[in-house]
Amino acid sequence: MRTLALLLAFAVSALTLTITSPSANDKVDFSKPYTIRWTTVPSDPQNFTITLVNVNGRNVSKDLTSRAESDKNEYRVDRVWDIPVANNYQINFRSTSRDNQGILAQSPMFNVTRVADRPRETGE
Ligand SMILES: *[C@@H]1O[C@H](CO)[C@@H](O)[C@H](O)[C@H]1NC(C)=O
Ligand SMILES: *[C@@H]1O[C@H](CO)[C@@H](O)[C@H](O)[C@H]1NC(C)=O
Ligand SMILES: *[C@@H]1O[C@H](CO)[C@@H](O)[C@H](O)[C@H]1NC(C)=O
Repeated sequence: MRTLALLLAFAVSALTLTITSPSANDKVDFSKPYTIRWTTVPSDPQNFTITLVNVNGRNVSKDLTSRAESDKNEYRVDRVWDIPVANNYQINFRSTSRDNQGILAQSPMFNVTRVADRPRETGE
């Protein structure tokens, strides 16, 4: 079952939303703005969630936005700070539809070489 679902997910993603940046073996510096890019076809969902994950020895699953818009073909991440510097990160695009939160697209693995400093609390 699970294998079939994975195969289907892969087959579908190969025809639809495709993440073009980051690409395999990129070194990503999240201490400065970084633009995630993709290609799309008209049958793709309008909006989706972008999640940064690292399942390879780390336990990272961080939503960067829940409002990426397909037809923009890119999303600019300002900075990211609350993740470890590590290899083998991936970006997942996840459906925002209530009855299907499956993965729409998955980037190749890339390495994060820097993250931003945690912003200082703004005095309230
Ligand atoms: C997608 O996001 C845009 C901007 O946030 C919003 O205006 C639009 O209604 C959303 N569309 C769907 C289908 O959720
Ligand atoms: C990973 O993170 C989730 C959510 O924070 C937590 O529930 C889970 O126990 C963690 N798993 C490991 C292996 O650290
Ligand atoms: C990324 O990390 C992998 C695994 O540790 C390593 O083999 C690879 O050389 C690294 N790639 C770059 C571009 O640093």
